[in-house]
Amino acid sequence: MIEFVNISKKYQNHFWKKDFLALDDVSFKIQQGDLVGFLGANGAGKTTLIKILMDFSRQDKGEVKFDHNLGADQLAAKGNIGYLPERAYLYQHLTGREFLNYVGSLHSTSKNELNDLIKKWSEKIQIDYALDRQIKGYSKGMQQRLGFISALMHRPQFLVLDEPLSGLDPIGRKEFKSIMKELNTEGTTIFFSSHIVSDVEEICNKVVFIEKGKLIYEGSIDSLILKHSNDQYVARYSKGDQIESLRFSESNKNQMLSNLISQNINLLELEKEKPTLEEIIYKIKR
Ligand SMILES: Nc1ncnc2c1ncn2[C@@H]1O[C@H](COP(=O)(O)OP(=O)(O)OP(=O)(O)O)[C@@H](O)[C@H]1O
Ligand SMILES: [Mg+2]
Repeated sequence: MIEFVNISKKYQNHFWKKDFLALDDVSFKIQQGDLVGFLGANGAGKTTLIKILMDFSRQDKGEVKFDHNLGADQLAAKGNIGYLPERAYLYQHLTGREFLNYVGSLHSTSKNELNDLIKKWSEKIQIDYALDRQIKGYSKGMQQRLGFISALMHRPQFLVLDEPLSGLDPIGRKEFKSIMKELNTEGTTIFFSSHIVSDVEEICNKVVFIEKGKLIYEGSIDSLILKHSNDQYVARYSKGDQIESLRFSESNKNQMLSNLISQNINLLELEKEKPTLEEIIYKIKR
């Protein structure tokens, strides 16, 4: 759907200093139907890459290729992308409703349809109670909610979200994640940056991980977890009124299980030990 091919980006901070390489030969693909988490520490280059994707910034090398699925040309493809910037610029003197009407009108939606969309999404994202207040009085999380609606209201095929979960309270985070999952199930491809590895692990099928402008990993989360699992099993069983557990390796599995069963225990659970995505990322970073 979208392919980044050998993207490099330099910033020149002072003309007498060496250029700073913010992205270094980054290549990866986002396929139609993917829900991709984009991870990396502060300053890793996530926003820089997202701005290049959106054409707000120009790479020094490489290219971003758009699939014809998104639109016949680059311009049509852009109309099919919903974008939430890291620091959304919402016109502060407008009310939430005026802002959403303005954004909706850019996508030439009829007045009635637009009213229905605003009602539906503002209720779903729980900002309906503040729609007639000026945005300058919104809290950070309220602005994030309004920005999120403005990105997805026109039902784009592809959503690009730069830290959509930042600034939200725990319930808001949970709701945003479930909406992202729902939109993805309905066919929207989503690419979003985050610092919270467990959020990415919870909802994404793919992860892209960059560090200091270099791609460290791109691919399925499941295969990354399986690749880093250590062939250890944990059996939980009850004996009398006690719950106990036993840890053993793949090579001992059959022996240990038959020992347990011969002792007349009640096997509750047998699980292969898996590292979390967070543990793996911490490991590959070092
Ligand atoms: N306009 C700019 N001029 C100079 N340097 C820049 C500019 N924009 C970004 N950088 C530098 O490029 C690097 C990557 O920044 P970027 O904003 O892409 O990081 P990020 O991964 O989005 O970080 P965060 O998680 O904090 O949002 C940083 O070192 C940053 O200082
Ligand atoms: Mg950023």
